[in-house]
Amino acid sequence: MGVLPFYLITLLPLPALAGSVKSPNGNIELKFSVDNTGRPVYEMTYKGREVVKPSHLGLELAKDKHASMGLQEHDLMDGFTIVEEKVSEFDETWQPVWGETKDIRNHYNELAATLVQRWLGDRQTGPNGAQMEPQQYQRTIIIRFRVYDDGIGLRYEFPQQKDLNYFLIKEERTEFAMTGDHTAWWLPGDYDTQEQETQETRLSEIRQRYKTAVNWDNSSVAVFSPTGVQTSLQMKSADGLYINIHEAACADYATMHLELVDAETKHLSEQLMGGSNAYTPNPKPSGWSLPKPFTFVSHLTPDATGLKGAMQTPCETPWRTVMVSDDARDMLSSNLILNLNEPCKLEDTSWIHPTKYCGVWWEMIVGKSSWNYTDEFPSIKLDQIDWSSVKPNGRHAANNEKVKRYIDFAAKNGLQEVLVEGWNVGWEDWANMWKRDVFDFVTPYPDFDLKMLNDYAHSKGVKILMHHETSSSSQNYERHIKDAFGLMNKYGYDAVKTGYVGDIIPRGDHHYSQSMNNHYLYVVKEAAKHHIMVNAHEATRPTGLCRTYPNLVGNESARGTEYEAFGGSRPDHTCILPFTRLQGGPMDYTPGIFVTKLSEWSNNDSWARITLAGSLALYLTMYSPLQMAADLPENYEKFDDAFQFIRDVACDWDESIYLEAEPADYITVARKAKGTDNWFIGGKCDENGHKSVIKLDFLDKGRKYLCTIYADAKDAHYDTNPQAYTITKKVVSAKDVLKLTEAPGGGFAVSLIAQ
Ligand code: NOJ
Ligand code: CA
Repeated sequence: MGVLPFYLITLLPLPALAGSVKSPNGNIELKFSVDNTGRPVYEMTYKGREVVKPSHLGLELAKDKHASMGLQEHDLMDGFTIVEEKVSEFDETWQPVWGETKDIRNHYNELAATLVQRWLGDRQTGPNGAQMEPQQYQRTIIIRFRVYDDGIGLRYEFPQQKDLNYFLIKEERTEFAMTGDHTAWWLPGDYDTQEQETQETRLSEIRQRYKTAVNWDNSSVAVFSPTGVQTSLQMKSADGLYINIHEAACADYATMHLELVDAETKHLSEQLMGGSNAYTPNPKPSGWSLPKPFTFVSHLTPDATGLKGAMQTPCETPWRTVMVSDDARDMLSSNLILNLNEPCKLEDTSWIHPTKYCGVWWEMIVGKSSWNYTDEFPSIKLDQIDWSSVKPNGRHAANNEKVKRYIDFAAKNGLQEVLVEGWNVGWEDWANMWKRDVFDFVTPYPDFDLKMLNDYAHSKGVKILMHHETSSSSQNYERHIKDAFGLMNKYGYDAVKTGYVGDIIPRGDHHYSQSMNNHYLYVVKEAAKHHIMVNAHEATRPTGLCRTYPNLVGNESARGTEYEAFGGSRPDHTCILPFTRLQGGPMDYTPGIFVTKLSEWSNNDSWARITLAGSLALYLTMYSPLQMAADLPENYEKFDDAFQFIRDVACDWDESIYLEAEPADYITVARKAKGTDNWFIGGKCDENGHKSVIKLDFLDKGRKYLCTIYADAKDAHYDTNPQAYTITKKVVSAKDVLKLTEAPGGGFAVSLIAQ
């Protein structure tokens, strides 16, 4: 054999490396290799059973007019060689600022594979027609796997380098090949809303069910594929494995959806829809072939250009996570998503506090009163109205008298804050008008005395919780944010509820794109500088960033209690959310509706499919450091003995033990209140009812507890008899067992106060 030219030597494959790493207890094994075309492949087992079959990894890049010729459109899909594999172990225990437990153990084994992709540019003809050596390109990426006892995380890392500096992502092609036709609890994949009812079907039934799964009435809907679903996706295999796919630490990157390849799939949605892609379509990325049925392929949210990401190295993708267990309770107690996020970046967190609150809110959602002050104009321009002279509509809720009443109610019942929506000018034509300058976030309506009300609240030990509805006019909010937060600091607000109703302005962008994800995080970081806690509604679904920025105390990002006034949600809805939406962080679900038939006090004939005792259970089963008592004070006053539970219940915990769980059926959890010896237990079930047998052996041995049980009465039912409950008191110890019956759509709540 003669001497090979340089470029051929460097293209020869290195001896194949293939790695394997097990979780600390050995239950999960992850294998990684590249196939014969240089495509990265991983697979995952749990107790020797296949969870993810061999699945490809890669990213498809878009043509970038700024890149040099040979780099344009060269995907990160195939042609890789593994040049190095590093295996390491990590074990630390950290303390969250707030959470379900005092300590969180972060224990994993890691495999970091360095991959190199080399290729030659076209042969160029030099001056005088001379053939020049083709240019050699080389890119290095790292694929990092972390293997925990309850799942794995994997991500792509892009070190800074000459041939990979700035790049545009056309699509991420991370595959998750499932082993069979699992049952899945899914939401239609959507670039703009997560406020749909969860569907329960086999994977093979998604395409058919999709036709009825989308409620087009939501103020912003953008579905992309008849087999597109959102994460966190909870599944159960026929042989009893619980599998959950989600993502962690989604920052400066688009939110991921999943597109299922089923028996009918011919091509993935991007080719199907075309869309507003301003760039040349690339119908088949290099090395790509349609995966087998039951494979999910990642599908990122595009921005207004149709592309999915603009990257600058060094950078990395979020973690793609697969949780697995043969016990559903492990899905709920897992800290995988938090552990894959960066530690807290805020030096001083002393101002961040778990909060129970009520609010001038439910009566507007139900339609009894209004956010807007006047009905006088067909539309308004903020800088052209003298608010002192406009005619009030008489239905404006955020008025001095009413807000004082809510403040009194909060003070009397130990609630720390009062949310007031509709306090600021602009609500006359706020939603879906493509109106850029919709709110200024600083000007109150004439009947809301900012100073007086804050002074009044503070004199009673209560704070007003600020509300910033942005109407999705994100740039408008960014322009005003410093003044808005400055006003909050001036008057002593320490928390804001933000909102992103309607399509994103500037037009064409989506709620879950890279640019909007950057916006939400900008707001959280800016708020931290002002010592403000954030509760963002309609923002992207959480991925555990609250570990890094614990002032992000809540998100809605799913179908919340407001839908009980818009036709209602199914009784099993709250037995699914902890498996799905809550994986990434707490939800501001706004529980606590006691008068479930809204026609009892309004013209709204919608109703909440839950019993009163079931509503109490949500304070335990729907973990959040921010818990609202959402019903009206007068409705709570009618059931003051039951409201005692909301007065007593904590919203920050030293310990949490999931006692029973099955997706969409029931969840029972016991939690020990932070810094005390008191425990609370909540159980919530679906429309079928449930019987719980609870051993109290987690209590301190030899200690007595005053036990108060708020349970469904024998004949309770979420429709026919929702307000039938019993309250029983007894003294118990660790030796006792509680036997409790949950009515259809019901639940129970228990307080155990150490004596
Ligand atoms: C939708 C939010 O989810 C809801 O809580 C809020 O009241 C309205 N937007 C108005 O901002
Ligand atoms: Ca909402």
